Amino acid sequence: MPVPQEKYLSPIWRDGLYKDKVLFCTGGAGTICSMQVRAFVALGGNACIVGRNVEKTESAAKDIATVRTGAKVIGLGNVDVKDPAILKAAADKCAKELGGIDFAIAGAAGNFLAPMSQLSSNAFKTVMDIDALGSFNTAKAVLPYLIESAKKNKNSGKSNPTGTGGRILFISASMHFRGQPLQAHVMAAKAAVDQISNAISIEYGPYGITSNVLTPGPIAETEGMERLARAGDRDGAAQGYLRRIPLGRMGETKEIADAMVYLFSEAASYVNGTTLVVDGGQWRTNSSGDEGFSKYPDFILSGEEVTGVKSGRRSKL
Ligand code: COA
Repeated sequence: MPVPQEKYLSPIWRDGLYKDKVLFCTGGAGTICSMQVRAFVALGGNACIVGRNVEKTESAAKDIATVRTGAKVIGLGNVDVKDPAILKAAADKCAKELGGIDFAIAGAAGNFLAPMSQLSSNAFKTVMDIDALGSFNTAKAVLPYLIESAKKNKNSGKSNPTGTGGRILFISASMHFRGQPLQAHVMAAKAAVDQISNAISIEYGPYGITSNVLTPGPIAETEGMERLARAGDRDGAAQGYLRRIPLGRMGETKEIADAMVYLFSEAASYVNGTTLVVDGGQWRTNSSGDEGFSKYPDFILSGEEVTGVKSGRRSKL
């Protein structure tokens, strides 16, 4: 379904900014990442998105390709970021079909709300595997191509006629900056993701590569926010959650895509090993307090199960 440009790109960027450049994105069929890929493709680039679900990934790729005549967008399903061999094969296929990989986004993530008392060892490991191990595997699969791109598109600080390349971006979260109930598994996984990015910035900076973390806050019309809102409705507290965002509103998918365009552009050539938080200032307030989506600590002490969210929990604890 055609998506209006106001959902994925501000009208301030130069046409052709990413002409003939290639983006590899895990989790690229999800709401936030698909808008980032759309922005990249609209600005002249081609892309390969990978995901577990074949139909969802292939149809998202077809849809994204409609943003620009002549755009090439490959959708590879059955690609589980937990499997390094499958991910490497996907990156190799992307490079073979599109001519290389200049940019990468490690966007695949898994999340559900659960207190530690309802979190099995396997549940914890599942999110660690998708987010942390998956981001590591993504980096390993694309870094040889990013090195090649960084050689061709020198990061000298001067305006470069060939544009930019050799950049990787990790999609993380800010909940672990302060701490949040029901998210032990996600906080641990995202903290690991941040450190993987930091390690790459140090070890691959000498090749001209930049590695950064982009941290979206509550973004409207995303699966994650819909689930949180449903959980919040249980307490009638979703509005309280929103009130605690300093800018007083949820973010737009476009605002995350714009941040990506900046980080991949010449304007951010000297930005390496950092975290760009795009959340309206949310993390600086305590959004998980009494007015948050689940009353703290009453909810924890009640021993209630999280309701209103899609649950895949199997084991009885
Ligand atoms: N609460 C507690 N434990 C849960 C849970 C929940 N809501 N959902 C899953 N688990 C546990 C399962 O019980 C299982 O542990 P067990 O073997 O001890 O029973 C473990 O997590 C693995 O579950 P499984 O369904 O096999 O994992 P999966 O890899 O198929 O799916 C997710 C994991 C995270 C992708 C899945 O929970 C999900 O679909 N989440 C919503 C979608 C999503 O996360 N999108 C990304 C938005 S950021």
